[in-house]
Amino acid sequence: MEAANMTTSTRRTFLAGLATAAATPMLTRLAHADTAGRALPVPPVVETHDARVTLDAIAGSSSFLPGLSTPTLGYSQPYLGPTLRFRRGALARVNVRNRLNTPITSHWHGLHVPAILDGGPQLQILPERQWSVEMPIDQPAATLWYHSHVHGRTAEQVYQGLAGMIIVDDPAAPDAGLPDDYGVDDLPLIIQDRAFREDGRFRYSNRGPARMIGFRGDSILVNGAIRPVAAPPTGLVRLRLLNGSNARTYLLRFSDERGFHQVASEAGLLPKPVPLTSIQLAPAERAEILVDFSDGKRVTLLSGPDNNNPMGPNMPAMMRQMLGGDPAQFPGGEPGEFEILSFEPQGKPRAPGKIPDAFPGAPRPQFGEPARTRDLVLNMHADRRGPGTSRSGQASAGPMGSMGINGNPFSMDRVDIAMNRGETELWTIRAAEMKHPFHVHGTSFQVLHNGGQDVAFDSTGLKDVVLVDGEARILVQCNHAATPDIPYMFHCHILEHEDAGMMGQFTVS
Ligand code: C2O
Ligand code: CU
Ligand code: CU
Repeated sequence: MEAANMTTSTRRTFLAGLATAAATPMLTRLAHADTAGRALPVPPVVETHDARVTLDAIAGSSSFLPGLSTPTLGYSQPYLGPTLRFRRGALARVNVRNRLNTPITSHWHGLHVPAILDGGPQLQILPERQWSVEMPIDQPAATLWYHSHVHGRTAEQVYQGLAGMIIVDDPAAPDAGLPDDYGVDDLPLIIQDRAFREDGRFRYSNRGPARMIGFRGDSILVNGAIRPVAAPPTGLVRLRLLNGSNARTYLLRFSDERGFHQVASEAGLLPKPVPLTSIQLAPAERAEILVDFSDGKRVTLLSGPDNNNPMGPNMPAMMRQMLGGDPAQFPGGEPGEFEILSFEPQGKPRAPGKIPDAFPGAPRPQFGEPARTRDLVLNMHADRRGPGTSRSGQASAGPMGSMGINGNPFSMDRVDIAMNRGETELWTIRAAEMKHPFHVHGTSFQVLHNGGQDVAFDSTGLKDVVLVDGEARILVQCNHAATPDIPYMFHCHILEHEDAGMMGQFTVS
């Protein structure tokens, strides 16, 4: 079909539209199609080993939509925070100052530090106070992140912008020459879904259906811009993908079906690059991928719809209205794929890049035989003792009831698990009604089994989040201390579920 044969501009536009639709079938444009196309913002990078670094939690305003401003929160900037670089073998010295009128915390997600440095819900920073930490960094190079973790307010505060990326560097470990020029061929990509009101303010709800399945927005932000355009050099580029969304799971692929290689997961490098054509990223998961832009062609990163929804993909619109929600919150309302961001490689096309064969320095599991096993059931309705069981007649804890783990809604006064330092445990985690991204603080774990299948270590590496599909089995070991006063957390990383009580505490002694 040739647009050039047409005589009126209307027809040209119409046919050009058809041609695009044919090239990317089922492509759904989420809201605000006209606002896409800004250059990809790259968060400033802050090294934490030379000097003490201060992050200021502040309220600001950001412009995501043309002509409108959105009140947001950030660490030392209006939305999100700088990328913190931690160096293995060094101390990371960070002050977090709270310039807001509400308590916050600063949790280092994926960092292996004692619980007292971890920034969990017990470590609130009150307004106008400062939290100062000195953290010995001792773990493999990896992509982590940080975010607020105030109990009951985590979802809202992260949604407003209290989050940022962390890169752990390990100067002693070989990385086989992976691209590492930050912001050039090593790009941080913080992917988040958001929704907007007419006046530009964020729309957010953690009630009703948004609480049951987690809030989904209808606009995709990458590093705080709606569907931006990155201009990497032609050649191999490393993308550090972080799903910083409250609840949405992405299934990412490129619009031209090009393959790519996953080189790292949450805890660092994989033993060898894994060739893929699509990758799933649940909330809080990270993946580093190598993409070859040597051909110099423009390409778009797409996501499939999020089907992690207990109400099924075809929940009628009327039902949505009865529940008081907006269709945009419902993954079932999305018939197809949508855009995340585009890449316009700069420079002359060149020969394809050389993918490393293996990463000999990649972290290896060293768990040994588990000393103990535990069963954890993630409950959408903790006040009726678990999913799928009958109502016990107990009073409901809220309008939709509390969520919990093993029948217990989260309590800061209860330690759920006592672990011994250095001792391996085998945890079986069960989820019903939907999949839950289960996260453990202070360590990395190995996934043995998930969704009815054994999981090969080489394909996932060590992780700190697993999207539990029915039942998952993981090997966990902790090597830092966590006391009953300030324990570590384990929880669902759908932030609305975490806030609703799907969280527990564990000590390590
Ligand atoms: Cu991203 Cu409890 O953490
Ligand atoms: Cu965490
Ligand atoms: Cu959950």
